[in-house]
Amino acid sequence: MSNRIAEFASTAAPARASLRGLHADEIRALQAAPLFSVQGFSLQGGELTITGLILAPDGDPAAVSLSAEPGVVFAVDYPLANPTAGQVFWYWPNAGASAFRLRVDLAATRHEGEDFRFRIHFAGRPDDVAERLRTTILVPKDLGQMQNFPGAAALSRVHRFHTINNVVPQASADAFRIVEIARLHGFDPQAGAVLDWGTGHGRVIRFLRQAGAAGALHGTDIDPDNIAWAASHLPGIAFAHGPLMPPSVYGDGQFGLVFGISVMTHLAPAVQQAWLVELDRILAPGGIALLTFTGDSAVAYSSQFLDRAWLDDYLAKGVGRDVPNKDLAGLIPDSNYYRNVKQTAETARAVCARHFAIEAIYPCMFGYQDLLVLKKGRRRQRRARPA
Ligand SMILES: C[S@@+](CC[C@H](N)C(=O)[O-])C[C@H]1O[C@@H](n2cnc3c(N)ncnc32)[C@H](O)[C@@H]1O
Repeated sequence: MSNRIAEFASTAAPARASLRGLHADEIRALQAAPLFSVQGFSLQGGELTITGLILAPDGDPAAVSLSAEPGVVFAVDYPLANPTAGQVFWYWPNAGASAFRLRVDLAATRHEGEDFRFRIHFAGRPDDVAERLRTTILVPKDLGQMQNFPGAAALSRVHRFHTINNVVPQASADAFRIVEIARLHGFDPQAGAVLDWGTGHGRVIRFLRQAGAAGALHGTDIDPDNIAWAASHLPGIAFAHGPLMPPSVYGDGQFGLVFGISVMTHLAPAVQQAWLVELDRILAPGGIALLTFTGDSAVAYSSQFLDRAWLDDYLAKGVGRDVPNKDLAGLIPDSNYYRNVKQTAETARAVCARHFAIEAIYPCMFGYQDLLVLKKGRRRQRRARPA
C-alpha cells in the first residue's frame, strides 16, 4: 500500500498524556484491539473510493496492511490527517493521522463476487477466523442496495452515522459477521428463523439474505417510527413493534438465531435480565443469541467524556454508572428506559451465564463493542443446597 505521509511510519507521535485525571496509558490498555471504521464510499471517474480510519497498533502505520480478493485493483493512501479522531482517540498514538482512503480502479478490476471485500491486517494480532471477520470491509456492488432508506433523523437514532454511504458498508459487513459467527457456533443459515432484536429501521437484517440466511427473517423494535418505516419499505422481512418489557409477540422456541447489536448497551441491568429470560424462551433448543455489550473498549472510546471518579467506580464494580439517553424521547412512554450502559465483558458474561451457556466473547467484534455468543440449552446446573 502507498503511504502518503511516510514520516509517520517511523515516528509514532505520543498520545496526549492525560485528560480529566485519566491517563493515556491506562485508557489505551483498556482498548482490546486496534480499531478501524468505514465512514463512507463514493464513485467518481471510474474509481470507487472507500474512506475511514484505522488505529494502527502502537500508532505505527507500518503495522497495518490491506488485502483484497483476486482481480481487485486497488491502492491505499494511509495514514492521512484525521483531527477528529485525534480528539476522540486522544489516548492512542498517532490517532490524528489515522484516516485512510482505499481506491479501487474499476476499469482494471475483474472480480465476480456480489461485493468488494477487503481485509485489514494488524501486525501482532492472531490470524484466526474471528480476526478475519472482525477486520473485513465489505461494500456491496449492487446499487439497488443503496436505495430505500429512512431520513437522516431516523438513521442517526440507530447508528452514529447518518448517510447511506456510511450505513450501507457498515450494515452489510455487520450482516456478514452475524451470519458467519452464528454459523461458526452451530446455527444453520439455510434453515433457522432469525430475529433482529432492536432492529431500528432494519439496518442489518435487510442485508441478511445476501449474507446467506435463507430462513424466515423478523425484526422488532420499541421505536414505533422506525419499525413502521421498515414494515412498509422492506418486503420479505416480518417487522413488529415491541414492548419495553417482555413478553414479546413471538412463540416459544421460534428462532434459531436472535441477534441484538447495541441493544443491551442501552438497558438497565434489571431490564437486561428480563430480556435474557425472554430471549431464552423464544430461542429453539441449541439456538444462538448474539448480543453486543459496551465494555472496556467502549469505555476507552468514550473516555473523552469520562472522569476519574466514573472510571474508578467502573473498574471497582465492573459496571459503570449509567446515564439516560434521549434518542428515543417522545417515541417511548418511559423517558428513563433508554440508557447508556457500560459493563466489563466479565460482568456481561456473569449476567448472561444465569440464562445461557457462554460460547464465546469476541472483543471489539462490532467496532468498539464486544460480542457475546450465547447458546440455549446448556445452562449450568445449580448445585443442590446441602441439607
Ligand atoms: C443503537 S440502536 C441499534 C439498532 C440496530 N440494532 C442497529 O445495529 O442498527 C438500539 C436500538 O434498540 C432498540 N431497543 C432498545 N430496547 C429495546 C427492546 N427492549 N426491544 C426492542 N428494541 C429495543 C432501540 O429503539 C434502538 O432502535
